[in-house]
Amino acid sequence: MPLPPYRIKVVEPIPFLSPEERAGALHLAGYNPFNLRADQITIDLLSDSGTGATSAAQEAAAAVGDESYAGARSWFRFLDEVADLTGYPHILPVHQGRAGERILFGTLLRPGQICVSNTHFDTTHANVELAGAEARDLPCPEALDLDSHEPFKGNIDLTALAELLAGPDGERVGLVLMTITNNGLGAQPVSMANLQAVHALCRQHGVPFFLDAARFAENAWLVREREPEYHGWTPREIARQAFDLADGCVISLKKDGLASIGGCIGLRDDDLHARCEANLIATEGFSTYGGLAGHDLERLAVGLREVVDPAYLSARAAATTHLAQLINEAGVDTVQPAGIHALYLNAGRLLPHLSPAEFPGHSLGCQLFLDGGVRCAELGSLYLGTMDEQHRLVTPAPFELVRLAIPRRVYSQEHFEYVAETLAGIAKDPERITGYRIVSTPPILRHFKVRLAPL
Ligand code: F0G
Repeated sequence: MPLPPYRIKVVEPIPFLSPEERAGALHLAGYNPFNLRADQITIDLLSDSGTGATSAAQEAAAAVGDESYAGARSWFRFLDEVADLTGYPHILPVHQGRAGERILFGTLLRPGQICVSNTHFDTTHANVELAGAEARDLPCPEALDLDSHEPFKGNIDLTALAELLAGPDGERVGLVLMTITNNGLGAQPVSMANLQAVHALCRQHGVPFFLDAARFAENAWLVREREPEYHGWTPREIARQAFDLADGCVISLKKDGLASIGGCIGLRDDDLHARCEANLIATEGFSTYGGLAGHDLERLAVGLREVVDPAYLSARAAATTHLAQLINEAGVDTVQPAGIHALYLNAGRLLPHLSPAEFPGHSLGCQLFLDGGVRCAELGSLYLGTMDEQHRLVTPAPFELVRLAIPRRVYSQEHFEYVAETLAGIAKDPERITGYRIVSTPPILRHFKVRLAPL
């Protein structure tokens, strides 16, 4: 196993609750892990977003952050770094990815248009729809076989994209957005060949092509490992080539920015930049801070260098692959092949006695918390299914998955072994696990605020 290229300097205690305390906590949380207090959780795999550890170099840079309202030194450090990485002439800072989505989609998309993606992330989907447009996912067919080891199951279906662009709805396509890596579908990477083909199709039809590049470095690492033409390239070179193919990007820097907050929009078009900038100033902050403090911009400038270090990326990828092996040996299947930022457990297969309407993914997630204090997120019918007025499931999701997201530079091998042991305990007697029913739901983005009860 490649060694992580760092050692630990500052630590934070993690809580260990008794099984009774955890049962009480989950009950009070309406059986929704998003409602738990973080100090009730032993291993938190809810998200890899903003949950990583910063480096000594980042904290040293943060100490000299310039908090001037406009034109701060820290802004120029951030700008130089992002412009050098992406090559885009215009960079707008935002406090996190979804603020960038709101500004970009609100400016670029018109009501009735279609935004096409390999898979929209949930907030991305919501922001497309809040702009009055339709979010349409066209994942490649290989993505639908969870067990296949195809290397680039994050790709978009090029045939379907070409048909859409050339067909009667083609005129309505306002944007093609490629999510790298594909967080909604198993953390699978997108190949450079796929991005090149999307670029060519978008050029041919005059449609803007953007990247949702939250995990640009992890995608680059998987390209280097899996796409023969790119062996020996640096992750930074591969990432740059991806940015070069697109007209712009929106990035949540809470992932591969290696910081707890931040995001940006990268643009080539002067007019689009001017319009997005006006929106940014009205809603996020002046265009040299965009809702971020100078110390955040400093941490990001350093983090964006650290994240493309091959030693860091290879150790992180190996750790996730190793956790997948431990989990598979414990008798729980994961979406194959393992990506980097998260593993996706096949809860539908582990709990065949629960129907989609009983939310097997949610049941598995709750059990991981009850048995081991491990928090994770359901990606199944609770998240993606459609419901009737009485909150009964009408259309199930294609798969019942649970995502274990891996915070960056946070957990050690022992923590991962503990997670696998907890799962092994569940896999020994899965029949004891009961399903859930919905008690109440919010109007959009159901999974964040839904409340449930065990059946
Ligand atoms: N795009 C992708 C692919 C994401 O994974 C996320 C966030 C966003 C956009 C939105 O960015 O959170 O900074 O506003 N993903 C997190 C997750 C929340 O847990 O996967 P944000």
